[in-house]
Amino acid sequence: MANWVRLCGVAEAPSAGEVREAEAEGVAVCVANVGGELSALDNVCPHREGPLGQGWIEKDCVVCPWHSWMFHAKTGAGEFPADQSVKVFPLRVEGEDVLIDLE
Ligand code: FES
Repeated sequence: MANWVRLCGVAEAPSAGEVREAEAEGVAVCVANVGGELSALDNVCPHREGPLGQGWIEKDCVVCPWHSWMFHAKTGAGEFPADQSVKVFPLRVEGEDVLIDLE
């Protein structure tokens, strides 16, 4: 069942080509902006729990700041390594707010 909650304000969301950390109801989230499109991923890297929201964007991927594992911002699928992935939360913008579905 959908559980849409406010993640941050549109004004606080990262600019194109940037990532940022945010939190919604105690859940740490990596907010990414690839080409002007926002997406929300689990902030915890599956490698050694690095903070993805402190990383950076490369092509359409979020790069972990600790050991450079890469995940597609929209799907969470691993670019490197390909057999890993992170959860992606449905995201929508409503007025001045960025909302995600925590399910
Ligand atoms: S903790 Fe993310 S790549 Fe190692």
